[in-house]
Amino acid sequence: MALIVLASASGSPWVTTTALGLALTWPRPVLLVEADPTGGSSVAAGYLRGQLVPPEAMLDLALAQQGGDLLETLARVSITLPGSHVAFVAGIRSHEQANSLVPLWEPLATTLRLLEDTGQDIIVDAGRLGLAGSPLPLLEQADLALLCTRTDLVSLAGARSWAATLKERFERAGATANLGLLLVGTGEPFTAREVTAVLDIPVVASVAWDPTTARVFSHGAPPPKPGIGQRLAGRAGIDDTALVRSMRAARSAITATIRDTTNQLSLTESGGAS
Ligand SMILES: Nc1ncnc2c1ncn2[C@@H]1O[C@H](COP(=O)(O)OP(=O)(O)O)[C@@H](O)[C@H]1O
Ligand SMILES: [Mg+2]
Repeated sequence: MALIVLASASGSPWVTTTALGLALTWPRPVLLVEADPTGGSSVAAGYLRGQLVPPEAMLDLALAQQGGDLLETLARVSITLPGSHVAFVAGIRSHEQANSLVPLWEPLATTLRLLEDTGQDIIVDAGRLGLAGSPLPLLEQADLALLCTRTDLVSLAGARSWAATLKERFERAGATANLGLLLVGTGEPFTAREVTAVLDIPVVASVAWDPTTARVFSHGAPPPKPGIGQRLAGRAGIDDTALVRSMRAARSAITATIRDTTNQLSLTESGGAS
């Protein structure tokens, strides 16, 4: 259905937590790909706490792209995250492997686009932009590429130059509508409107600043226990947290944006054909 790629520009940008949280709260089967070239799979060490060791995926994929069997290899190297409908492809173990991924990104983007035709959504954690081996081709092929940032001055200053670079690249490709911002902690202190004015890219979605719940995703911390009010209302702990609620809203906003862009595109194409 859709290829959604999340990336960040600077600092400690919350991309892994957001990508994983979105995948775990996604209502349909979803493939989560860790394409961050930093190395040391955060999901394996964090969320899975090292208790489940995913297969070495990226190097196998890099080899497979030479033989042209990426699709089969993707199925072989992905694991299902326990208790979820998330298929997960782990990132490289060391940043030294990052350069060998450079030839992978373009064909992987094409293969992931094929996969979306089968009805599966794909969420990619592209990590921080500008690193050696960064998966820019995945961003550029995405139905929606999301630059993630907090809304304080330091984060915005860090995001500004990448926002300008991405905007220019997407504009040149005629794909402006496929680029958006995802804010972590809107209004702390700047609002979505203020951030859009500064970075000149529309805010597509926001997730809440919620350190306790974030640690469930980033470090495999136990889910928060439901309070008395939640128990009386029959609501489960993590589903009723600010972070998970905001992730569900973010997912709706993301899918609505992609739907609008696709509809717009088919209108333009049919208009062009007549
Ligand atoms: N929405 C959030 N609210 C509060 N803390 C968060 C949030 N998202 C992530 N964090 C915390 O920020 C830290 C870095 O998160 P992580 O997702 O690993 O960043 P990145 O992948 O960008 O390096 C972790 O300790 C995580 O618990
Ligand atoms: Mg990360």
